[in-house]
Amino acid sequence: MRRYSIQTKIVLPFLILFVLITILVSLLTVEFFAWKYSEQFTRETEGWFNVIIETGFIDEDIEKVKQAYSVEVMIFSSDFTINASTLTDMPAAEQDVMYLAEKMRLREVQQSFQEEEGTPVTHNVSLGGKHYEVFYHILAVGRIYCLLRPMGEIAAAKRTLTLYMFGIALIVTGLVSFISHRIGNTITDPIQDLVGFTNKVAEGNLDEQCALKTHDEIGDLATAFNQMTQELKQSRDKLIQAERLATAGKMATSFAHEIRNPLSSMRMLSQLLRQKPELTEEQRQSLQYILEEIERIDTIVKGMMDFARPTSLKPVQQPLEPLLRDVLALMQANLTHHKIELQLEFTADLPEFEFDSDKIKQAFMNVVLNSMEAMPQGGILTVSTSKVDDGASIEVADTGVGIPETDMPHLFEPFFTSKDKGTGLGLANVKRIVEEHDGTVAIESSLGEGVTVSIWLPFSSSVI
Ligand SMILES: Nc1ncnc2c1ncn2[C@@H]1O[C@H](COP(=O)(O)OP(=O)(O)OP(=O)(O)O)[C@@H](O)[C@H]1O
Ligand SMILES: [Mg+2]
Repeated sequence: MRRYSIQTKIVLPFLILFVLITILVSLLTVEFFAWKYSEQFTRETEGWFNVIIETGFIDEDIEKVKQAYSVEVMIFSSDFTINASTLTDMPAAEQDVMYLAEKMRLREVQQSFQEEEGTPVTHNVSLGGKHYEVFYHILAVGRIYCLLRPMGEIAAAKRTLTLYMFGIALIVTGLVSFISHRIGNTITDPIQDLVGFTNKVAEGNLDEQCALKTHDEIGDLATAFNQMTQELKQSRDKLIQAERLATAGKMATSFAHEIRNPLSSMRMLSQLLRQKPELTEEQRQSLQYILEEIERIDTIVKGMMDFARPTSLKPVQQPLEPLLRDVLALMQANLTHHKIELQLEFTADLPEFEFDSDKIKQAFMNVVLNSMEAMPQGGILTVSTSKVDDGASIEVADTGVGIPETDMPHLFEPFFTSKDKGTGLGLANVKRIVEEHDGTVAIESSLGEGVTVSIWLPFSSSVI
């Protein structure tokens, strides 16, 4: 079946209806005016006829009447033979008395004059291929006086009127179809934009946003679509992230198991070897390097195992500030060593709320460590808290190197790191811990100026 566009469905019925109404109105108007005109025409001719009779002009030369009123005159005797006529070139057939009498309806006229004397009698008659309105009058000795007024005038007026009406109807129809087309466009254009946008979404492009900004139902639809696409994108990203975590977890546990056993043998043997007195200082130093690298591998493996291990929260109702102060106190020596000035902006507004202190400590520490590592030449570390939307917000801002724009989308991916000695599990862990608490984590960066990490934890969470 053929598919009609919405525009066709809107415009076509109205256009058909309008064209039909226009044709009907035009026809009715033409007929009405023609009827009015012919009424006027008859009245006018009757007026003339009365003047002709009353002034005795009727007994004058019929050629004079013809000239005065532009009409034809015929006079018939009572046996219907022509007494006089201004019509000259009549076809042969019409010159036959009986045929002509029939055509002129003379018998009928005679009868009606006998029955209703004084009532004007008129008939439409066609003679010599022309149409006339004939007005009759009975003269002395039964003669019939006929005034023939040509109807060509009425027909011409009707034709002109019809032409005008159809001209107007055509112009108005054109205008209506143009306007309805424009109206249709204002409705269908945004729908087409929306269809284009949904096609892109259907192809999997969830980064697009529909730019439609109309303040009507279609605009609402576009806003709803945009929201839906964003939510779809978020849940897709979460799914991808969850899949990655699951895969990473599986890999991590199997690797860790395989690596840690030989690693502890290597560590033990190296330590034993290093105690041998016959070793040169250079050999001892090399063994020291080997041990340091073994330590590093062990830390990575431990991190992987921590990350992969399924966890359950142990939430306790408690204040947040002491926990943050504990972590910072633990790191104070390190911060001083790195020439990092610590600024605290804690709000007194935060109530106690439920969270797993070990986990939140771990997350906060990871964030502070990142900031410290981003300021090798020293800088300022600002830790602030505030109450935001029925939850606690912790902001950690540094004046470090910042993050390149290209790295931003990957920060929370497991094993994403820009550091030689990093595992890339720090922020992935932070995100997991915060989301386990039903919270959110966001990172803002200005390259060369620093980074701000914002963690938000709800006071009451559905998860806990
Ligand atoms: N405050 C910060 N300033 C600059 N870059 C940062 C900051 N925080 C995170 N990053 C960037 O994000 C990356 C990922 O951080 P994440 O903590 O997950 O891993 P990592 O610090 O590299 O390694 P790990 O934390 O396991 O030792 C870092 O390598 C770094 O490039
Ligand atoms: Mg880190």
